[in-house]
Amino acid sequence: MEIRTAGDEDWPKIYPFYAAIIDEGRTYAFPEGQPLEEARPWWMESPPGRTVVAVEDGLIVGSAKMGPNRPGRGSHVATASFLVDPARQGRGVGRALGRHVVDWARAEGYRGIQFNAVVEVNAPAVHLWKSLGFEVVGTVPEAFDHPEHGLVGLHVMYLRF
Ligand SMILES: CC(C)(COP(=O)(O)OP(=O)(O)OC[C@H]1O[C@@H](n2cnc3c(N)ncnc32)[C@H](O)[C@@H]1OP(=O)(O)O)[C@@H](O)C(=O)NCCC(=O)NCCS
Repeated sequence: MEIRTAGDEDWPKIYPFYAAIIDEGRTYAFPEGQPLEEARPWWMESPPGRTVVAVEDGLIVGSAKMGPNRPGRGSHVATASFLVDPARQGRGVGRALGRHVVDWARAEGYRGIQFNAVVEVNAPAVHLWKSLGFEVVGTVPEAFDHPEHGLVGLHVMYLRF
C-alpha cells in the first residue's frame, strides 16, 4: 500500500466513502447529505495542513487529513481525521494511515497530536489510537448523538511526543 499526498483530482474518488461514512452518522459530527463540491473543503486540506490517500492496486482505499489543531499559539499541536472505505476496513489501512500521520507530525516538529472528538463507542478507532500511544485525556459526556446508542461521549485523545 502506498500513502501519498492527495491532489484535487483525487477528491471524486474519496467522496463516495466520505459520504457513506458521514451519512451513516456513527463516527463524525460533520454535515450529512453534502454534495461533492460542498463536502470538498471539509476534507481536502491546504498547507500547512495536508490530505493523503492510501492506494492499493491503483484504488484509493482510505484517506487522512492532518494539520495544526489550532492556529497561532495552539499551532504546535497537530490534529488529524481518518476515513477508510467501509469495504476495506479491518485490514490495516487505518493503522498504516495512523502511523503515517504520527511520523509526519513528528517530522514537522509538532509537540503532539490531539484528536478532538472520538466517539466513545467507536471501538475500532479507540482501540487503534490507544495502540498507537494515544490516551483519553477526557470525555465530553453526551456530546454525540449516535443513531443507535443515543447520546454518547466524545473522547479527547492525545499523543505527546
Ligand atoms: C477507524 C478506521 C479509520 C480504522 O481503519 P481500519 O482500516 O478499519 O483499521 P485497521 O484494520 O488498521 O485496524 C482496526 C483495529 O481495530 C480493531 N477492531 C476492529 N473491530 C473492533 C472492535 N469492535 N473493538 C475493538 N477493536 C476492534 C482491529 O482488530 C484492529 O486492531 P489490531 O490491529 O490491534 O487487530 C476505519 O474503521 C474508519 O474509517 N471508520 C469510519 C470513520 C472513523 O471512525 N474514523 C475515525 C474517527 S476517530
